[in-house]
Amino acid sequence: MTYQNYSLAQLRQADAAHHLHPFTDHKDLRAAGSRIIARADGPFVYDMDGNEILDGMAGLWCVNVGYGRDELAEVAYEQMKELPYYNAFFRCSTPTPVLLAKKLAELAPDGINQVFYGSSGSEANDTALRLVRHYWALEGKPEKNRVISRDWAYHGSTIAGASLGGMAAMHDQLHGAVPNIVHVMPPYAYELAEAGESDEDFGLRAARALEDAILEAGPDTVAAFIGEPVMGAGGVKIPPASYWPEIQRICRKYDVLLMLDEVITGYGRTGAWFAAQSMGIEPDTITTAKALTSGYQPLSALLVGDRIATTLVEKGGEFFHGYTYSGHPVACAVALKNLEIIEREGLVARVAEDTGPYLGEALRQKLGDHALVGEIRSFGLLAAIEIVKDKETKTRFDPVGRAASLVRDHAIANGLMMRAVNDTMILSPPLIWTRETIDMACKRIARALDLAARDLRGR
Ligand SMILES: Cc1ncc(COP(=O)(O)O)c(C=O)c1O
Repeated sequence: MTYQNYSLAQLRQADAAHHLHPFTDHKDLRAAGSRIIARADGPFVYDMDGNEILDGMAGLWCVNVGYGRDELAEVAYEQMKELPYYNAFFRCSTPTPVLLAKKLAELAPDGINQVFYGSSGSEANDTALRLVRHYWALEGKPEKNRVISRDWAYHGSTIAGASLGGMAAMHDQLHGAVPNIVHVMPPYAYELAEAGESDEDFGLRAARALEDAILEAGPDTVAAFIGEPVMGAGGVKIPPASYWPEIQRICRKYDVLLMLDEVITGYGRTGAWFAAQSMGIEPDTITTAKALTSGYQPLSALLVGDRIATTLVEKGGEFFHGYTYSGHPVACAVALKNLEIIEREGLVARVAEDTGPYLGEALRQKLGDHALVGEIRSFGLLAAIEIVKDKETKTRFDPVGRAASLVRDHAIANGLMMRAVNDTMILSPPLIWTRETIDMACKRIARALDLAARDLRGR
């Protein structure tokens, strides 16, 4: 490896001198220096300071089969030797994207049989936005082009992704979002449910914000609703069971397409191949990326339902959209092997039957009574811990975000990679975690909570 000729100090210095990181305060980073992860194996990553860290985030919600899978490296190597690249433009194809599309059609919910490739979740959502608008134009309704999304949604960081997303800080820096995208309230009961409101009633109320927005805009102007089944980067916000069926009913009633963003939930994380299946949602498009290759190669697949695909094919006319790397042969070869591993090792069923329920139980049992913990919620291998100053009143520490950042820093220092979103701690581990790994994580979180509580005493 070429980096081994460099010391950690030299790498840090070059990082500070030349590398602009994503979602980073560069002034801060230069003052603190970066953590350089140089190696990983199974559920652990290793930094160049010599620390072994249990990866509670599966990289960035993606390394579902864990690190160190020789098979994935080998298949990439073989494909690179045989055909490193050819494009899918101009009536050409290569074998691996074809076979992957066939496989994805088998795994996808009923009525979804077509795939459009990109290299990232953001690109796939850009494709989805263009595709739904194109669909309505082909149907003779070009004015049906508004998309309704939600506050706190994360749909990526390109201009289309950030516009679809509902992160206020990202919108502030857009200086002009893509037009005709509006946002409604998220199904975040912990902060938004009213006193005495049941989960079910709150879920219905949150879903009906969509209906209000459709009626306000006029149903003839609304192309689609977009949502993550569980909001991930916004803080693992898990909707009440009443939410998605009501969203589905509203979309059907007003003939609004349903775009599901499963960039995090796709490929097993919720205990089904897609959360659409675990939650009984029937979407028109499903955006997927990340765990499609377990992060070993950049690849996204927009799964396109029959309604849109049929119009696209029957009406014809070129869809002026695509990327150099749409259907990259190496990335698709890795995805095929990755899906084979997930199937062979029964990882989806393991999440549904064992580790998913166990993660929720263990977190609640071992951490639920901690003074800093306001709520613990989980769905499959996604979990959130709300950090509060007062459990009863749900009062947060001031300033918001500081307390969870402290917990996160202590967690990492104690060997567990976690993330903090404002004052919500989140977990999204690889699907290879076992009950033992979950117990190990709980111990490290408990220690981090104790240390953070000590730091926060008197605040
Ligand atoms: C739900 C969701 N959609 C889209 C994206 C964007 O994916 P990418 O970073 O690959 O562009 C993400 C990334 O975290 C995501 O969580």
